[in-house]
Parts: sequence; structure tokens; C-alpha cells
Amino acid sequence: TPELFDKIVNLCKRRGFVFPSAEIYGGFRSTYDYGPVGVLMLRNVKNAWWRSMVQMRTDVVGLDAAILSPPAVWEASGHLSSFTDPLVDCRNCGNRFRQDKLDDPDVCPSCGATGQFTEPRQFNLMFKTHAGPVADEGAVAYLRPETAQGMFTQFANVLNTSRKKPPFGIAQVGKSFRNEITPQNFVFRTREFEQMEMEYFVPPDEAEKWYRYWCDERFQWYVDHGIPAEKLRLRAHDADELSHYSSGTSDVEFLFPWGWDELEGIANRGDYDLSAHATHSGEKLDYFDQATGERYTPHVVEPAAGATRTMMAFLMAAYDEEEVRGETRTVLRLHHRIAPFQIAVLPLSKKDTLVPPAQDVLARLQPHFMCDYDETQAIGRRYRRQDELGTPYCVTIDFESLEDGAVTVRERDTMEQDRIAIPDLLAYFRERLV
Ligand code: GAP
Repeated sequence: TPELFDKIVNLCKRRGFVFPSAEIYGGFRSTYDYGPVGVLMLRNVKNAWWRSMVQMRTDVVGLDAAILSPPAVWEASGHLSSFTDPLVDCRNCGNRFRQDKLDDPDVCPSCGATGQFTEPRQFNLMFKTHAGPVADEGAVAYLRPETAQGMFTQFANVLNTSRKKPPFGIAQVGKSFRNEITPQNFVFRTREFEQMEMEYFVPPDEAEKWYRYWCDERFQWYVDHGIPAEKLRLRAHDADELSHYSSGTSDVEFLFPWGWDELEGIANRGDYDLSAHATHSGEKLDYFDQATGERYTPHVVEPAAGATRTMMAFLMAAYDEEEVRGETRTVLRLHHRIAPFQIAVLPLSKKDTLVPPAQDVLARLQPHFMCDYDETQAIGRRYRRQDELGTPYCVTIDFESLEDGAVTVRERDTMEQDRIAIPDLLAYFRERLV
């Protein structure tokens, strides 16, 4: 429902997930800042991706490439000539639109005028700047519009230093920038965003097999992290949607309040990228297989996801309201690895006697889990706050704790409570929060 969208935007602001950038100056063109809670969650999204794509595998290594890059990279990749969107202006109201996103190609969605659009102009989405003090042509640089090219331009260095051979992958998480004509839907489409991309280099005759493999793997990742399978689908691109380099692309789509939309694209890119960079740079970007004596340019299968967009989907899938004793409880049923805090430590009252044992509990858990600590307000309100943050467990230290050395652990979804001895807490959570 469109209502859900407003509720999420509101919750994000109210609880410190996402704020409009430069808000005290009226905000800035669909840019957003991730607040104290949002930064934790966004990190968790990226860490969960890294864990499954790098840490839990032996065939993928990481990279963190520069954001500023010379025109030569984008010349070779094809972005300078073809990373464009068709832009039209409405002569009546002066607003601009992406022609390919208009519901009706003749009708202005702002003022309703018919037949008032200018001819489409191809608008390049890359942000152009200058490196160094002189703003001349020789100093032109671009902010990367995708992280992918770093993996292609560093292919030979990674191959020579990592002791990997095809099939193997290079993964990267980081910021990308696109001068989108119409940023929209909160953090779904912004000009500055974060990507999580992996380039998987394979022998040419294995490309199709690995393309299928990564489509399945990536779909399952969202399910494993708490998005119900019925809110996800894998959609193969039609031939006319395919990028110039791709022989097959499938999108993992999520059912957003406005309909199905893309979370991630998995593309079978052939040898397009390595061949293009080899031609433009004059460097060899291929692989010599000592076992067969063959030299070949690996094909690339690329799962490319958005971290900020995925965070939004996790929030939307997790949002729930339920009636509890005549009151509405808002709860984010986030996967424990994605939730900003795993545990909240809550002394029942601020009384001096309860603070030292609460601090002791915090000190035991903090090295292992991201914990919140909150000692003000009635306990019921503090539980509700943690429910809205998606915190899976609250630990309450009460006056009985002073007698029995135990605490109450409340689970977010069932609201069931367990009494656990303080020395057993770490093992209790280690079992539940892996
Ligand atoms: N290297 C291939 C590539 O960049 P893409 O489909 O253009 O492919 C991959 O981008 C993912 O990056 C998208 O599925 C989306 O999640 C995210 N993304 C792209 N543009 C975005 C934007 N303007 N705002 C937020 N996320 C974006």
C-alpha cells in the first residue's frame, strides 16, 4: 500500500534511520544522510552481503577501488557514449522528465499538458569534475557511476596477487554516483548511492551455468535475510531491455508499495569488459590456463545490487503493526543480522542499585553484539521503541536480579520472556544471533 511508504519515511526520520541531507538549509536534491540507527543497519546490509559473497567462499576476493577515475576508463567501458537517458522538457510548465519513464509519452505528469514535450536529448548520467587546480580538459575526471569498472581495470593485478584462477570473483561495496533526471521514492533512486557488486570471471563455455547459479544464489540471499519469497521475483529481461554488452540479464525484484521494482541485476556480460579495456589500454587482460595450455579472455557474470535500495526493501518487508492489549504495536521484524541493534540492555529503573549490574551485563555483551543501552522512561515505552528499531532481544535488569543474579530476556516477535542467569547470557545469545 502507498500508506506503507509514508509510514517508512516517517519512521526513518523519527527514529534516526534516514534524514534529508542539509535539512537545516531546506534539503538538497534527493540526497539523504543515514542517522545513528540507519548507519548501523546500512553497515549490516553491506556486511551480510560481504559475509556471503567473500567471507563464506574461497573463490571470491575483495577490492576497494577509487571513486574518481579518468575519462579513459569510461571511454573503454562505453559509459561516455552510451550511459545516457532520454530527457524531455515540458514547454508548458518547464519540468523535465525521462522520456522512457513517462506513463503516456504525450502527457506531462506535472501539468497535464498534451503534446508539449521537446524532442528527447540524450543526457549523460555521469558526474564530471576536475582533478587538480586547473579546470581544463586534461584534468577532467568522473565520479564512478558503478563500482564494476574497478574490478575490470584491476583484473590483472588481482589475478597476479591472489592465486585465484577462473572461475573466481572480485567483490566490491561502495558509493556510486549518477546524475539521475528524476530521483524518486525516498532512497530507492538517488544521485549518490551505494552498490554491492561482484564480477565473476569464468571460462567462456561455463558462463551460462554460472549465470543460472548466481541468479539462484542471489535470490536466496534476500530470502535468507528475511524477505518473504512471495515479495520477491526473478525477472528475465526481454531482448529489447538488454544492455549493449549483455547476452542475458535477470533482475531480482521486490514488491514495493508502487509495484515490482529492481533490487539487483544479474548479467551475463561475456568478454565485453575485459576485451574493451584490453583494446583501449593495450594491456593483456586474459588468462593462461597452464593445465590446458590455452589462453582465453574470461567471460563475466555480474550480480550487481544496491545497498541503500536493499536497506529500504528490508525495512518495508519487516514493517508490521499488531494489536497488543488494545494498543497498536509497531514492530520491524528484521533479520537479526540486519537489525541495527541485536540487543538492548534496559535497567528497569534508573535507581543507583540497578545501574551497576546493567553496566556489567552491557560490558559482557558489547564486545560481541551491537547493543543499545537505555535507562530512561517506563519500561513499556522502551520496549516499544526497541520494537520500532527491530531489536531482536531486550535484556531487563530488575530488582530481583540483585537477589538471583538473573535477568529477563524479551524476544521481539513473540514478546515471550526468559529468565537467564547473567553468566549464561553470552552463550544464550551466541546460539541465537549467529
Ligand atoms: N554494474 C552494473 C550496474 O551498475 P545497475 O542495474 O545500473 O547495474 C545495479 O545497478 C544496482 O544498483 C541496481 O539494481 C540498484 O539496486 C542500484 N542502483 C542503481 N542506480 C541507483 C540509484 N540511482 N539509486 C539507488 N540505487 C541504485
